Amino acid sequence: MDSRLIMHRTSKVEWQESPVMVRGEGVWLYDEKGRRYLDLTAGNTRPVHIGYGREEVARAAYEQMVRLTYMTPMQYRNEPSLALAKKLGEIAPGKIEWFTFVCDGSEAVEAAIKLARHYNYFNGEKRRYKIISRRGAYHGVTNGALRALGSVLPMRHMMEPLGPGVIFAESPYCFRCPLHLSYPACDLACARDIERLIEFEDPEQISVFLGEPIQQAFGAYAPPKEYWPLVAEICRNYGILLIDDEVICGFGRTGKWFGIEHFQVEPDLMTMAKGISSGYLPLGAVGCTEEVVGPIETFYHLHTYANHPVSCAAALKNLEIMERERLVERSRKMGEFFLDALKELEEHGLVGEARGTGLWLALDLTADKKTRSPLPQERISRIVRRARDKGVIIRAMGSALEFAPALTIGEEEIEEGVRIVKEVLEEEEKRGRS
Ligand SMILES: Cc1ncc(COP(=O)(O)O)c(C=O)c1O
Repeated sequence: MDSRLIMHRTSKVEWQESPVMVRGEGVWLYDEKGRRYLDLTAGNTRPVHIGYGREEVARAAYEQMVRLTYMTPMQYRNEPSLALAKKLGEIAPGKIEWFTFVCDGSEAVEAAIKLARHYNYFNGEKRRYKIISRRGAYHGVTNGALRALGSVLPMRHMMEPLGPGVIFAESPYCFRCPLHLSYPACDLACARDIERLIEFEDPEQISVFLGEPIQQAFGAYAPPKEYWPLVAEICRNYGILLIDDEVICGFGRTGKWFGIEHFQVEPDLMTMAKGISSGYLPLGAVGCTEEVVGPIETFYHLHTYANHPVSCAAALKNLEIMERERLVERSRKMGEFFLDALKELEEHGLVGEARGTGLWLALDLTADKKTRSPLPQERISRIVRRARDKGVIIRAMGSALEFAPALTIGEEEIEEGVRIVKEVLEEEEKRGRS
């Protein structure tokens, strides 16, 4: 098909070649040529938690469209956004109880940073503007989110100069520790160093610490259990707000409603998207505590499509399905099954480590098992392409292969996916040897 479509983060040569997807059902996708794919990525960017093709969600959106298509987030409220805010208050961790809705994860990050700045402003702390993010972080593509982006560097570098004020701490990536230490002898040096950064940057100028509970960039990487409590304590001591970016982890991806629940930490703000609506309609959200919203007289923010009634109605139906089918619990159980299957591949010459939390998993690939040097990108891309040729969609993430299927996936589908992954790894290893 001759295409005039500009694709995102896809090399131009692929604009004419990449598959045209026409239909989805459960964890299966079909392209225009009738080829079937097992999607182990829930739509490649991982939002489709409840699987493709749920008529119930379409019906909820349809009914809301007919009833009230649209209403501004300014000076008027609408029923679905009120109901969704109430629902999220029931499932969000800690004291997160106020919510606002935007269109995606990047906008949620942007709005969370702004909400935090409003809190600082109305509290008379107008000098607080800096953001602590981490090398290896991913928080999206709008200005504030892009600034706080410590991976996919071409994205950030091409748009520079961006606004000042982002400080990058090291990430807790123990498999290839950026500080060349090993856990637990390191005594969490990557977290403790944040205090030194804060002192250096002037604590009174720092507004927020922004982080994903489990990080995307290294391949679904969970930090040691002490990491988040330590970071939260440091932030609290300096009056710095903690933004928990749940855009991927949220809504059951990691076997709990939210990723931060694995670490017994209560954030001040949370960002959400993806699984909130399972991708049926665009939606992002920011949650915060009463303490954060308390001093704010007006939130000086306005998107035409914020608090959108149709997206919120679809999200409500999505959450209803997740609860009815106990998909959070299923994510935990199927995640264990998936991880066991991936662990069997650890014997393989190219596999450094199999890891995962719930249905967010990765195989970290190495060129050398002893030094753990990452497998070159072109080899990882070839593995991903070969898997797709064989009908299985996976994605590359740093030096890893990443898996994040719909939470509805079954054992047979996992087994089939892992069998194909094993096959392409073997082919790639042979190729490397020849
Ligand atoms: C942790 C995190 N934050 C923010 C974003 C940006 O979300 P979106 O792509 O919906 O703008 C992403 C996207 O993957 C993400 O993983």
